[in-house]
Formats: sequence, structure tokens, C-alpha cells
Amino acid sequence: MPAQPQPRRLWRDVTLFDGHDTLPEPMAVVVAGATIERVIPMRELDRAEAEACEALGQGGVMTPGLVDCHTHLVFGGSRAEEFEKRLEGVSYEEIARQGGGILSTVRATRTASEDDLFRLARPRLEALMREGVTTVEIKSGYGLTVADELKMLRVARGLGAALPVRVVTTLLGAHALPPEFKDDSDAYIDLVCREMIPAAVEQGLADAVDVFCEKIAFSVAQCERVFAAAEAHGLPVKAHAEQLSNLGGSAMAARHGALSVDHIEHLDEAGVAALREAGSIAVLLPGAFHTLRDTQLPPIAALREVGVPMAVATDANPGSSPLFMPTLMLNLACTLFRLTPREALAGMTAHGARALGLHDRSLGRIVEGAPADLCLWDVETPAELAYAVQPGRLRQRIFKGELSHGQIQH
Ligand code: NIG
Ligand code: FE
Repeated sequence: MPAQPQPRRLWRDVTLFDGHDTLPEPMAVVVAGATIERVIPMRELDRAEAEACEALGQGGVMTPGLVDCHTHLVFGGSRAEEFEKRLEGVSYEEIARQGGGILSTVRATRTASEDDLFRLARPRLEALMREGVTTVEIKSGYGLTVADELKMLRVARGLGAALPVRVVTTLLGAHALPPEFKDDSDAYIDLVCREMIPAAVEQGLADAVDVFCEKIAFSVAQCERVFAAAEAHGLPVKAHAEQLSNLGGSAMAARHGALSVDHIEHLDEAGVAALREAGSIAVLLPGAFHTLRDTQLPPIAALREVGVPMAVATDANPGSSPLFMPTLMLNLACTLFRLTPREALAGMTAHGARALGLHDRSLGRIVEGAPADLCLWDVETPAELAYAVQPGRLRQRIFKGELSHGQIQH
């Protein structure tokens, strides 16, 4: 049977942010099927070509679909009480040491069924999608048994199957030490390496492996063992590192060719150099910085100076970043970390995709041949997306070439 001709769709007169920069003149974008086919200045669009396409929209600002490269949005329970404790002056670390924090979410996640977790996570993901997210990474890390970690990853995969969004899953077994392994963290790391990673790989549930390298979590040596196991199973690695102190986890992760290191408030010069050498992405999480009322800024100027690409993500989670709004992160990345709006937007598009290892087909960019994941916004300039915190400006969301939010405009 001859292949069905692919529908060709046209957006005209858009101000285009291509994932790195805003183009200097009004542009036309043609999408064929699920792929961006043409990106041309309006003045080069001839009438015959325009008439051969279905007109989908015109005007506005077009960006790549947003890539949220770091979330923990599958979880049970709430940490509102802990939020109040922190306001009274108890620190995040202290709460963790008292068995609260991540472990309180672990208790609630273990008792939740797969259906419960799906039902709870779906509106969180839909909130991200309504503000432009077309690709999202979702971590496990609140199960901390083989069965419960796999349960979380199945929920993440299920969300990707049920909704028009690309879901990338990350096994974060080494997130916290579960109480059953108290005083024997090496035995828990054995479990992660010998059972969790192999089971997740065998069932096709994990796209990458993450660790929390921190005094209240796991040492550099323990994280390195997890990375070795991931590598033996062919999975790429990444790390939560240098969030609360400088242990050197980022440099170790870079030595293992990590896709990204995330948080990095305490990253030092040697760490910056290690990222640059390895080509790892620096993932900035201004939501956690804001929520924890952190004061130690990540080394933005140094990263910028040596050219380490900076991604920006929500870190959406019940404890350190209960913020399910990607456009707020653009704003916080600018106000708290002094990124430019252009850098913040690149951080949630092109560089977010790189942090997930998805840049080979130019995901997160608006260039010919890239996947047609696009957002059309009711703003005058791309910078306005970072400048004003105003939900509801997404006019159209296009996922794999199909309109998944908004109306066709002729
Ligand atoms: O990215 N830093 C460690 N993990 C999460 C927090 C998880 C939690 O507090 O529940 C983070 O901030
Ligand atoms: Fe995180």
C-alpha cells in the first residue's frame, strides 16, 4: 500500500525562539507529520507553498515545546507540615535526620497503589503541560525497594502512554537510605546495584540512573558504585550533587560521562572544569533554591565563562520544590540566578533536551528535521515568558505535529 501523504501544516508570522536564540525577522514554520520540515523567513514563503499547507496559526511567539529535565512528580502524601516546620527554623537536613523529608514521602509512596500514584501524578503533569511542557523526565526514588521503585517507574511510563507528552524515566534508587538499612548503607547500595538496576533494565523501565550524592544521602564512593552498575547495564548516568555541601560528586559524575549534574549550588572551580571537559550539562533548579531559602548561589558566571550548557528544570517534588510551573522557573532562573531570559529559555528547551541525551534529533530546537514539539505563546517577545509570571499565555501546544492544546487559527 502506498504511504499516506503526511499532512503539512503551516504557522506564519511568528517570532521564533529556536532553542538558542530569537531570530531577527518574522518566520514561517512548516511541519510535515511529526517533523519540522521548513523554518524560513516570511519573505521567502511563496504562495504556492503556503496554499499547499493547512494553516494552523499566525503571529505570537513560537518556542520549542518545553523540556522539564528533572522532576519527581510521582509520589504519595504531602509535606505541608514540614514546610511549616522549616518556616519555624528547622533545616531541611535536620528534618531528614529526624526521619522526615524524603523518608516521609517514601512511607506514603510505599502504601499507595499504582493506580493511586497515577491518579495523583496526572494533574501535576497536566499542570506542566498546560504551561508548555512536551518532554518531561520523571524519577523514581520514593520507593526504595525493588518493587516500589519499579512501581513508580511503571506509573511514569503509564503517564507517557496516557497523555500527549514525552516521558523519560530515571531510576533514583540511591535517593535516601531506607529505614530497613539503617546503619548499613553499603548493603542498600548492593541492592541498588545487584537487583534494582538489573530489574529496571530487564523490564525496560529506566532510561537513565541518578543518585543523591550528599552527606544526608550517599557518599561519592557509593554513588560511583551505582554508576558502575548502570554502565554495565548500558544506562547513562546523572547526579544530584553539590546541593548542600561540596563533596566532589559532580567531578566524579563527570568522569563517568554523566549527562548532567543537578543542583550544584556548592560546585567549585575544579567541578566546573570537570563538567566542561566531560561535556556534562549543569542543571539549575531555582525552585529548590527558592523553597529551601538557600543563599549559596550556583557558580553561574564560571559555568557561563567556560561554556558549560545550563539547563533549567522544575525539580517538581513534594519537599524541596513543590512548584509545578515551568514558566515560573524561567522567572526564578533570572531573578535568583541572574540568567538572561534567553539563557533561561535555552535551559528549558535545547539544553534541557541535552541533559536527557535527546539532542541527537535536535529535540528542544526549532530547526529542520527536529521533532515537531512546539509552543505558540500570546506574548510579544520571548523574554516576556521569563519576565512575567502569568499562567494561561500558551495559545497552542503541538506535540509530535498534532495540536494538543488550543485552537486552529486560520
Ligand atoms: O531534587 N535533593 C534531593 N532530592 C530532591 C528532593 C526530594 C525531596 O525532598 O522529596 C531534590 O531536591
Ligand atoms: Fe531532584
